[in-house]
Amino acid sequence: MKPDKLADGVYRVAAKVGVRDLFEGIWPIPDGVMLNSYVVMGTNKRVLIDMVKDWDGALSDVSAQLQSLSLGSLPLDYIVINHMEPDHTGAMAKIVEQFPGVEILCSEKAVPLIKHFYKIEKQVRAVKDGETLDLGGKTLQFLMTPNIHWPETMMTYVKEDGILFSCDAFGSFGRYDHCFDDELNEQEMEHLASETERYYANIVSSFSSFVLKGVAKLDGLSITMVAPSHGVVWRGEPQKIIGWYKRLATYMQGPREKEVAVVWSSMYGNTQALLSSIVDGLRSEGVVVHVLQVPQTHESFVLEKVWRSEGLVIGMPTYEYKMFPPMYHVLDILDRSHVQGRKVIRFGSFGWSGGAQKQFDEFTTSMKLDCKGVIEYQGSPTEEDKKKAYELAKALAKEIKG
Ligand code: FEO
Repeated sequence: MKPDKLADGVYRVAAKVGVRDLFEGIWPIPDGVMLNSYVVMGTNKRVLIDMVKDWDGALSDVSAQLQSLSLGSLPLDYIVINHMEPDHTGAMAKIVEQFPGVEILCSEKAVPLIKHFYKIEKQVRAVKDGETLDLGGKTLQFLMTPNIHWPETMMTYVKEDGILFSCDAFGSFGRYDHCFDDELNEQEMEHLASETERYYANIVSSFSSFVLKGVAKLDGLSITMVAPSHGVVWRGEPQKIIGWYKRLATYMQGPREKEVAVVWSSMYGNTQALLSSIVDGLRSEGVVVHVLQVPQTHESFVLEKVWRSEGLVIGMPTYEYKMFPPMYHVLDILDRSHVQGRKVIRFGSFGWSGGAQKQFDEFTTSMKLDCKGVIEYQGSPTEEDKKKAYELAKALAKEIKG
């Protein structure tokens, strides 16, 4: 790739990676992900903001772009670390080796992590909230925004240009041929929308209360561009991605979309036999229904739809006196991601004995779910069970519509 110019002396140096990999070792990224670093060049000092992991050739790609900006013949004075996760710091030791005189600037909490991850101590300096750094015609300001999504996270703002470097915050999955939001066509923008919601649900949702605090902290800043470390640079509509994250964060406590996620699994078709009654009952009230089969659908996509939805239906049989194991895994992920307070129905079959419901009740308590009913049956459902499922689902949809 080539560097992209954001403003005079401000560039993105990025790499496209990961199509064959799982992000964080968990989340599928069939369209990969962008690793965006940024260079700010003042008249006196030059800064690299965030780095990359040596992933799919990202380090050599970004290094070549740094060379093309004459960094190498000119000194790099600082590396700013907004976030310590290795997708942004994995190549730190190699980059420091390349620029031995560089000073690393980060939040106080990042200092011990740099030592433990990369054995670098000497040239590291913690910056304070609101502190500024004069580069000569460019002034960086550091904003502590903890827990979006690690405790050490911060953002960096270029005062003269109004550019906010937000690292993971305001990021998206996916690789994009264009640097800026205003260069995307309608289809590319739809893809970005879906990959932004999935990224948020997978990576950031647990930290939604901190997202709201972080967004509030940006009030009063004149922001012309939001430049995250994943996804595109928001130049056309910088407030759109900020508002979008705010809406996604509010899904934790609500209000949420008037939609229902039906997450179901079945061993021999007896739990599945009730599915159409449930879906028909929900759709009879005109609400949007997302139907997701487990384990055939990866939890990454399940979480994306559950996160936005006010209603949740879990279809799951008993397996060896407990919950069907793939559904246990999905509920554990939802619980860890702070999916709470949804209105829920559960249905499912059992053979010799039940047991799934007892274990599901523990999730109901932990996730503060508002249980609207359970339909559990031995073997296959009766016509009466199907009628009851339809009516229960219809009542749930009605309540969600308000
Ligand atoms: Fe993109 Fe939390 O690292």
